[in-house]
Amino acid sequence: MLSRIAIKRCFSQTTINPYKVSVLGACGGIGQPLSLLLKLNPKVTSLNLYDLKNAKGVATDLSHIPTNSTVKGFSADEADGLHNALKDSDLVVIPAGVPRKPGMTRDDLFNINAGIVYDLAKATAEAAPNACVLIISNPVNSTVPIVAEVFKKLGKYNPKKLFGVTTLDSIRSARFLSELTNTDPTQNKRISIIGGHSGVTILPLLSQDELASTKLSKEQKDALIHRIQFGGDEVVKAKNGAGSATLSMAQAGSKFADAVLKGLAGEENVIEPTFIDSPILKDEGIDFFAQLVKLGPEGVKEILPIGNLSKEELELLENCKDALKKNIKKGTDFVDNKH
Ligand code: NAD
Ligand code: LMR
Repeated sequence: MLSRIAIKRCFSQTTINPYKVSVLGACGGIGQPLSLLLKLNPKVTSLNLYDLKNAKGVATDLSHIPTNSTVKGFSADEADGLHNALKDSDLVVIPAGVPRKPGMTRDDLFNINAGIVYDLAKATAEAAPNACVLIISNPVNSTVPIVAEVFKKLGKYNPKKLFGVTTLDSIRSARFLSELTNTDPTQNKRISIIGGHSGVTILPLLSQDELASTKLSKEQKDALIHRIQFGGDEVVKAKNGAGSATLSMAQAGSKFADAVLKGLAGEENVIEPTFIDSPILKDEGIDFFAQLVKLGPEGVKEILPIGNLSKEELELLENCKDALKKNIKKGTDFVDNKH
């Protein structure tokens, strides 16, 4: 039988790296289109789908697509389903959990989603301790600290391999800016967004973007910042009780997963924003922060500096620190209280 290293070598001759990816919550609004996009990714050669039920159906459906990966489904009601889904994964994506309804904040999801993420993190730390773990489940500002704390308690924590997925804020900003400036959204440079993933903690740095800083009036800039911060609410309101962003999130999740796999494969200059364990505000008690990182074979290769902020942006940053700190503490306290 060929060893895993031999398989890697054999694949590398055809410039494909074999990566095993698991999606936890794979049958949901995000999980299904995200799994489809991962099935289309040539870097993914093994795709494991896990959900409470129906994962085998979704997996069988996707397995008929003629790409270079095998797809398997695992459900909560089968013995060791979660463990088998996770075993030996290189990358685990977690979109499991409930979405918002109109009038709710992301923090209102905490009571249900914290427990779901806690259980999935525990299983991941046990079955796939070396995987890169991508957290989509909200509230991201709290669920990422939950995962970190669970891994720490089990002695498996590697801060370079835990990511809160904030890519949706980034792709929204590209689209919204193009609408305001009549430009091609596929060609615009990405706006750097720092902080976290909810309301005022989402802090777009328009002063660092040439197009936004030179072409927009003060009113347009304020409106754009607000729209990026509350873009999620736009979708929640439009879906009117049927959930939150799923398709744009699937695209964002797939883009971020692809970037992490590129990094693992040793590609140079793979840069994406993400909510990570960052030193930037640790002395103020904020252990996690969204910012641009360079990805590499070990996960995070380098946390990039946030650059210069305008006076207004410094004020926005100051104003979001409290919320961010509380969200993070809520996550870590949740795990501490269980032990
Ligand atoms: P959904 O209800 O359509 O799907 C969630 C799926 O998770 C369901 O299939 C459900 O069965 C599954 N699930 C629940 N508990 C589980 C468990 N213990 N193990 C495995 N699977 C489990 O919801 P959705 O629209 O896909 O959203 C999922 C989450 O993603 C929500 O928390 C939402 O707020 C969040 N979200 C985050 C972002 C982001 O930018 N990070 C964007 C959109 C949505
Ligand atoms: C989003 O930004 O669309 C997600 O975080 C989902 C939500 O609740 O808004």
